[in-house]
Amino acid sequence: MLSLTILIAYSSWLARAIPRPIQEPFSIQPLRTKLHGRFLHITDMHPDPYYIDGASESSACHRNKPRKEKQRSGYYGTPFSSSECDSPLRLTNLTLNFLDRNWASEIDFVVWTGDNARHDNDRKIPRTLKEIYNSNGMIATEMEKIFLKKGVPVVPSLGNNDIWRPNDIISHFSSIWGAFIPFSSYQVFRRGAYYSVEVIPDEVAVISLNTLYFYDSNKAVGGCEYREPDDPGNLQFDWLEVQLKMFRKRGVQVWLSGHVPPSPGNYFPECYVRYVELSLRFQDTILGHLYGHMNNDHFFLLEAEDLQFPSESDLTPADRVVSEGHDGLFDTLVNDFGDLPKKGKADYDNYGVVNVVPSVVPNPYLPSFRIYTYNITHARSETNSKKKKKRKHGHRRGKGNKEELCKKKKYEDSWRCKLNEPWYSDPDAPSRVNTLWSPLGYAQYYLPEERVANKTDKPKFKLEYLTYSLDALHPGDTEEATEFEYPVPLKQLPKGLREGNVTSSKFAPYRMEDLTIPSWVGLARRLGDPTRAKLRKRFKQYMYMGEGS
Ligand SMILES: *[C@@H]1O[C@H](CO)[C@@H](O)[C@H](O)[C@H]1NC(C)=O
Ligand SMILES: *[C@@H]1O[C@H](CO)[C@@H](O)[C@H](O)[C@H]1NC(C)=O
Ligand SMILES: *[C@@H]1O[C@H](CO)[C@@H](O)[C@H](O)[C@H]1NC(C)=O
Ligand SMILES: *[C@@H]1O[C@H](CO)[C@@H](O)[C@H](O)[C@H]1NC(C)=O
Repeated sequence: MLSLTILIAYSSWLARAIPRPIQEPFSIQPLRTKLHGRFLHITDMHPDPYYIDGASESSACHRNKPRKEKQRSGYYGTPFSSSECDSPLRLTNLTLNFLDRNWASEIDFVVWTGDNARHDNDRKIPRTLKEIYNSNGMIATEMEKIFLKKGVPVVPSLGNNDIWRPNDIISHFSSIWGAFIPFSSYQVFRRGAYYSVEVIPDEVAVISLNTLYFYDSNKAVGGCEYREPDDPGNLQFDWLEVQLKMFRKRGVQVWLSGHVPPSPGNYFPECYVRYVELSLRFQDTILGHLYGHMNNDHFFLLEAEDLQFPSESDLTPADRVVSEGHDGLFDTLVNDFGDLPKKGKADYDNYGVVNVVPSVVPNPYLPSFRIYTYNITHARSETNSKKKKKRKHGHRRGKGNKEELCKKKKYEDSWRCKLNEPWYSDPDAPSRVNTLWSPLGYAQYYLPEERVANKTDKPKFKLEYLTYSLDALHPGDTEEATEFEYPVPLKQLPKGLREGNVTSSKFAPYRMEDLTIPSWVGLARRLGDPTRAKLRKRFKQYMYMGEGS
């Protein structure tokens, strides 16, 4: 039975289906009076108002009560199930409450990458457009209350389950998200549901992309073909290019964010080429790439090689990072990492790193969210040295037989043959070396499995793992202690780590110095080495939250 509180809560959201007026842009607190050097990335909540506990998984957890207890849906969700149940509102509520109590006052901004409606997987209760709006409105109001009202900017993006026909819905979302979208971005948002927010004014921005224009499952768009300049994907890239140029000129660093990650398996081939090219061309301006949608925890690289023509023998659409299901993705990733050049041989101009964060919905794994740390050590200084520095122009890419191929009719009108701008690569950029605004690490939190089904004991999110080395967790002993923030607030660490006297910990498998491109390529190289069986096992365990091992 759906509890009465939930019904009441939900129906009050129904009553709010009417678009709200656009709000004035929120005023962010005076610059850097209180930066924490952390932000939250949360994705794929998938609240399902029809979810009931004790239901059959084959009914999408909507009805029937199986005789065997094991087959019944859980109180806070139904992880590791072969059917696709979404989140009970109880779980979304628990998650948001947890973030409110534990994290809202510890972070500077929120990246929120979509899918705030249930899947349309129950023929008896087809998902309506109105329901999608209601679910989104419900979560948006909560996010506003928990973060925005406390001065923490929130940057949402559209998920594939948040839309129906792309253009019909954008104006509705511009009202659901009225509070999050800066006034200056409003016009462009109305055009395509993409926009940017300066989460630290004049210093750091988050660009929220509408990845549904790049996603090859979307039959309503053309796929960024060179000959279709008005394709919505191409228009979005044109806009992105202008944004990146503008931010670069102003010395603002940016995170790119969106729902569907930019992989050859997810994007139309020509959209993928444009994404990779812009990512590498503006590597000195882009801090990283934050995505969701896959519901499992991993990262992958964008590579200059993707801009070369594949050899004739494998000209079939690349499918290196497709949704190959269970072990497929893991195998693809580690094999890909295995092809990386050896240490000392890599040219880091040629890489970008995409982080894919696991979902809140336990489908099929466990509910999770991620807290990133970034460098604010000199954020308070008046003269921000970065501002004064002119970036070096990088090299021109393109080698091999590209010139020849581009003369051929078959290739001449493809983006690979058209993109010849110089790259802005800089070994001293925050994406390349630990400096102001560089990403430093993250802590991944999850609800352990035994807790998800537990009705009597309210579950609590726990640390799953972190990327830091153990010493980094206790910076208090250094001279800079006074102005230093701990990467993870001590009370959010398990006891052993909190006390700081452990030397080995299951929570710290990677011990990365920071999250710059060289550090990620280093981890990828370690994972690509088949002799590192233990490390691979850990990586796989996190990808599939225990199920893979
Ligand atoms: C959500 O959480 C709030 C605050 O803890 C509580 O008052 C409310 O009843 C919850 N709603 C649902 C639907 O669980
Ligand atoms: C941040 O970058 C500065 C260099 O600009 C460095 O000295 C400092 O150690 C970095 N802070 C952290 C916490 O890594
Ligand atoms: C729920 O959690 C409590 C306390 O941790 C435990 O004693 C109990 O066995 C759990 N119940 C289920 C159904 O797992
Ligand atoms: C760590 O230090 C605390 C006190 O700070 C102590 O109680 C605990 O036993 C120590 N743990 C280990 C593993 O040494």
